[in-house]
Amino acid sequence: MNNLLGIGELERREIEELLALAESFEGIDLREVKKVPALRGRTVLNLFMEPSTRTRSSFELAAKRLSADVLNFSAAGSSVEKGESFKDTVLTLSAQGPDLIVVRAPWAGAAELVARWSGAKVVNAGDGGHEHPTQALVDLYALKRRMGRLEGLSVWVVGDIAHSRVARSLLIALQKVGARATVCGPPTLIPPAVEALGADVSYTLAGLQEADVVYALRLQRERMAELPLPSLREYAACYQIDGGRLAPGQLLCHAGPVNRGVEVDGRVVDLPQSAVLDQVRAGLAVRMAVIYALLAGGRERAAVQAVGGVA
Ligand code: CP
Repeated sequence: MNNLLGIGELERREIEELLALAESFEGIDLREVKKVPALRGRTVLNLFMEPSTRTRSSFELAAKRLSADVLNFSAAGSSVEKGESFKDTVLTLSAQGPDLIVVRAPWAGAAELVARWSGAKVVNAGDGGHEHPTQALVDLYALKRRMGRLEGLSVWVVGDIAHSRVARSLLIALQKVGARATVCGPPTLIPPAVEALGADVSYTLAGLQEADVVYALRLQRERMAELPLPSLREYAACYQIDGGRLAPGQLLCHAGPVNRGVEVDGRVVDLPQSAVLDQVRAGLAVRMAVIYALLAGGRERAAVQAVGGVA
């Protein structure tokens, strides 16, 4: 794997290998010294042009667990605020020799541009409304953990599909692993070509009971010129996942951040059938696996196998 720009680049076998690698890394978190020397001397640059809590912290921690040096860059407080362009920012930071750049930006295609401009390997940590491939891997990992399988699962993705990179990557990933996807939301928030991603479409929650997994999506208001809905109150009345709509055996997922009281009733987020924090926990092991798969050569693999970090 040279870069990870979109989940479609990965074959099913590669996805399964990454999930197995992530599982082998979980044990490191249980040790007193939560570190393996796999990537000593390597540098990971977290280049974040957009806000993030989960993705950024888990990439930072993942790289540190693997003993890489980590450089964290945020647009806020940098020379971007003095007018420096994205390209010049990438060229400047690349001149400091990172081995891997983890990039989040508000523009679709930004990660691909970074891969063109820099000699470093690149992971897309979310580019506009386009893709968030490591979130899809995290979701598959958490789903497999909680449901015991991926093949044949029925996953309803409910909410703002149109502006969601999480949904796009997830739908591609679900199709690859043999799960069934249904997208549900108001017509203004369902993109016209969504069936091409292998999803059925529903404009109401009437059939929700057939789902094994209910995946709620936030309204991505940062990508909307105006709210394509009559009101938030009406949206919540029709699509909010609450205790009356979520059946006892169904798993609730959400990539976060959650807007409690809008796409989900806050009380269901805290139920045992919610996987929201499992998804966060999975983020560390999965991102360790992605960084390791991109950066570890034979020497590093042997070193980490020697300390039992990889099966
Ligand atoms: N799920 C996700 O990408 O969350 P953050 O924006 O907090 O990284």
